[in-house]
Amino acid sequence: MKKIHYFLPPIVIDFLRFIKKKIKSKAQFIEKPLKQDLDLYSDPEMAKVLNTWGERNAWIEIQHLLINKSKFKILDIACGTGIVMKILKKNLNFEEIYGCDISKLLISKAHENEIENKYLKICDATDLPYNENEFDYNYSIGSLEHFTEEGIVNFLKSSRKVSKYSGYHMIPVSRDGKNHGWIKNYQSYFNNSIEWWSAQCSKVTSDFYFLDSSWEDEFRLENG
Ligand SMILES: C[S@@+](CC[C@H](N)C(=O)[O-])C[C@H]1O[C@@H](n2cnc3c(N)ncnc32)[C@H](O)[C@@H]1O
Repeated sequence: MKKIHYFLPPIVIDFLRFIKKKIKSKAQFIEKPLKQDLDLYSDPEMAKVLNTWGERNAWIEIQHLLINKSKFKILDIACGTGIVMKILKKNLNFEEIYGCDISKLLISKAHENEIENKYLKICDATDLPYNENEFDYNYSIGSLEHFTEEGIVNFLKSSRKVSKYSGYHMIPVSRDGKNHGWIKNYQSYFNNSIEWWSAQCSKVTSDFYFLDSSWEDEFRLENG
């Protein structure tokens, strides 16, 4: 049975600083975006931050989640600079770990992070160009929240299609239980409730659950 596991991630200080700079003084929330604006992901400053942001939190937690999966074929969806793939290879001897992302710049950074070309693809995660059940497991970190509602559903459908077993998706949620909507200047559903996320997942499967994380982040607390 395919399962989707939701794991709520932390975001570290330098990442927050970057977000805050983008957002300037105030986040601009809108209820629902019609499409993604992908400019953010070709910003070299973003690429720099993406190489370190999760090293004391989310990237440790994903190693715990995948600790017994190193012999499996894994897909990192929206892999950014490929840094997590590098960590999994180095610390847990993962071999067959593939990554994909929509950003040409970030995939070029994955090459710099010593990920061979054959393991990487530039593509849209809402329509993954892989065969059915090509992978055993998939995961994504800090990415699903950057998709539109329709995109989230298509991302989940597509990730399930290409994987035999579970997917692990690390997402930020609000702690006040409210849905704050889409942050336009950060292109993200950063502060929506677990109920909202649950409703999105239910459009794809009933086979999912949420795990909390001990990490709290400043940005989430400030904005719900
Ligand atoms: C905050 S970054 C997280 C990257 C990486 N998972 C990490 O832990 O550092 C979000 C990622 O989602 C990617 N992304 C956004 N929209 C996408 C899409 N439609 N298809 C594939 N990747 C996308 C971005 O290019 C970016 O690398």
